[in-house]
Amino acid sequence: MSIPADTAAVSDEQQAREDELVRRVLDSFADTADPRLQQIMHAAVRHLHAFLRDVRLTEREWKQGIDFLTAVGHITDDRRQEFILLSDTLGASMQTIAINNEAYADATEATVFGPFFVEDAPHVELGGDIAGDAPGQPCWVEGTVRDTEGNAVADARIEVWEADEDGFYDVQYGDDRVAGRAHLFSDRDGSFRFWAVTPTPYPIPHDGPVGAMLAATGRSPMRASHLHFMVSAPGLRTLVTHIFVRGDELLSSDSVFGVKDSLVKDFVEQPSGAPTPDGRDLTGATWSRTRFDIVLAPADAHETGDGT
Ligand code: BEZ
Ligand code: FE
Repeated sequence: MSIPADTAAVSDEQQAREDELVRRVLDSFADTADPRLQQIMHAAVRHLHAFLRDVRLTEREWKQGIDFLTAVGHITDDRRQEFILLSDTLGASMQTIAINNEAYADATEATVFGPFFVEDAPHVELGGDIAGDAPGQPCWVEGTVRDTEGNAVADARIEVWEADEDGFYDVQYGDDRVAGRAHLFSDRDGSFRFWAVTPTPYPIPHDGPVGAMLAATGRSPMRASHLHFMVSAPGLRTLVTHIFVRGDELLSSDSVFGVKDSLVKDFVEQPSGAPTPDGRDLTGATWSRTRFDIVLAPADAHETGDGT
């Protein structure tokens, strides 16, 4: 349900005054040396004023907005970036990602980066276990890295990270543990394989102003279950993405709008005692397996559609 803007109630004189203010603010950027900065400031001012006028913002609401942004700033530090969380929950991060990772042939779609990537995650060999001590059901992940011409990409760097079954990334525990993250390199034929844990849902940090905004608007902080990837290789566009679990009921309500149909994969449950692909002994535990075939666009890909 939306409340219609009350623009009909504005007299011609009032409208003229509001228009005049917008014009004066736009004119104030006339001497901006950098044309791109001027374009951005002009658009920001036009859209900001259109928003204020559209909702006929009250002074009390303006103050509430200022207080909200102040709280977002106060909780932000080296470890917590509430502004990015705000961008994520408003879909602004995903829109920026869409704009900057244009569709190109059958290149794999990108999605939101999130705050839990760590540089220098440990290296694992192909077939190794990225879980470390992270609790969760073992999950065998395999696939290939190819370019949009179908050529295998050998030696692609594949960064993988995920939350454990309790919904926490290692960095959220506040000790020095490293678990649920690693990097590996694709084989000569572009293939890769590793053990992880089956992804489970978890909430984004919601104990701050962004969490309050979600609560006030009846939104859930939950993210659909996912496994993060960042894949890079010379001459190809770096891909930041996740894969999601088919059947997860949160797919349609992911709190940061990160889900794309093409990234939803089957995670096939394996019964207790089912033989593992590499002979690993899971002492009778159940496990799951999935496949993710990755296609990287050329580094200079800008074209949309068929990539021509
Ligand atoms: C994540 O998937 O790790 C994430 C993404 C956006 C906000 C918070 C967490
Ligand atoms: Fe995540």
